[in-house]
Amino acid sequence: MIATDHEIEVETERLFRLLMSVDCEPGRQWNYAACRGIAPLTLEINRLKRERGAVVLAHSYVEPEIIYGVADFKGDSYFLSLKAREARAPVIVFAGVVFMAETAKILCPEATVVVPDRGSGCSLADSLTGAQLRGLKALHPDAAVVCYINSAAEVKAESDVCVTSGNVGDIVARLPQRRILFVPDRLMAENLRIELKRRGVAKEIVSSDGTCIVHDEFKADSLAEARIRFPGLKIVAHPECDPAVAAAADFVGSTGAMMKYVRSTRAPYYLMLTECGLVGRLQVEEPEKRFIGGCRLCPYMKLNSLEKIREALAAPRPEQVVTLDEAVRRRARRCLERMFELAPGD
Ligand code: 13P
Ligand code: SF4
Repeated sequence: MIATDHEIEVETERLFRLLMSVDCEPGRQWNYAACRGIAPLTLEINRLKRERGAVVLAHSYVEPEIIYGVADFKGDSYFLSLKAREARAPVIVFAGVVFMAETAKILCPEATVVVPDRGSGCSLADSLTGAQLRGLKALHPDAAVVCYINSAAEVKAESDVCVTSGNVGDIVARLPQRRILFVPDRLMAENLRIELKRRGVAKEIVSSDGTCIVHDEFKADSLAEARIRFPGLKIVAHPECDPAVAAAADFVGSTGAMMKYVRSTRAPYYLMLTECGLVGRLQVEEPEKRFIGGCRLCPYMKLNSLEKIREALAAPRPEQVVTLDEAVRRRARRCLERMFELAPGD
C-alpha cells in the first residue's frame, strides 16, 4: 500500500520536528528535504511492523532516523535486554549489533529475531570464543566467570553471570567468590578493579584482552586542555574507556546512565566520550545543552539502515534471521537470568 501525499507530509513534519537539531555527524544534516526523503520508508516500515506484530529495538548508537523513525524502544544494552525479555511479539527487529540480537533470541526463543545486517559484529564480542573461554576457565578453576553482555552467545553459555556497563560493579560486588574471571573487556576490567577498591570490596579480577575499537581511541592527555578551553565543561565517559580517561571524567557510566547524568545536570558544555549516536539522541532530547568534541562512529552500529530494516521485516534473508544451538541458548539464558536476579532495581 502506497502512502498518500498527506500521510507523507504529516510524517515529514514529525521527523523534522525531532531530527532538526541533530548535527553531530559530519556530512549529515537533517533538513526538511532529508526528512521528506525518508518519510515514505518510515511509513512503510511502521505499516509492516503493524502487519507482522513486530517490535523494533534500537540501541542509542544507531542512526537517528532509525531511533526516531521506527524504533519502539531505544536505549542501552540492559534496557533493551529487559524489553526483549518482556516482548510478547512474534517478530523482534534488533537495530544494534549481533550480540544484542542474540541476547534477544536467548531470552525470547519463540520469537523470530532479525538483524538488519549480519556483519554488525563488535570488537569486544568478536575477541573471545567459547573454546577460548573454556581454556581460561581451566587456568582459573576457582574463579566466578563473569561476562560482559558484549559477548557471543557461546561465551555467555560458559559464564556464571552476565553484566552490563550499568550493573557490573554492583553484581561483581555481590558474588561470593573472591576471584573473578571477567571477559572480554580488559579496560572495563581495569575500571572495575579501581571501582571495587574505592568501595572497599576485596576481589581479584583476571581478564581477557578485548577492547572496544571506539572507546579505546579516547586519550586522557587532551582532556585537561578541553577543560581550559571550555570553562565549566562536564566530561562524561563510558566504562569501556581507558582508566586514565575514566579518572579524568566527571561521570562514568553506561550510555543510559550517561544520558541521565546530562539530563540531571546543568553545565555550559558537555564532552561525551562515547559513540556519536548518543550525542545525536541528546541533541534531540536535550536541545538546549551544548556538546563539544568530534564524532566517533562505531562501524558495526552504522551498518544498520532503514532499507535493511524494511528488508528484514518484509522478507528476511536467511542470514538476517538469528538462530542459536538450543543447548547453548539454554545455558546462556541461565547466565542472563542470574544477571536479572542480581542487578539492582532502577
Ligand atoms: P551500553 O550498554 O552502555 O549502551 O553499551 C553498549 C556498547 O556497546 C557500548 O559500546
Ligand atoms: Fe562493540 Fe564498541 Fe561498537 Fe559498542 S561501540 S558495539 S563495544 S565495537
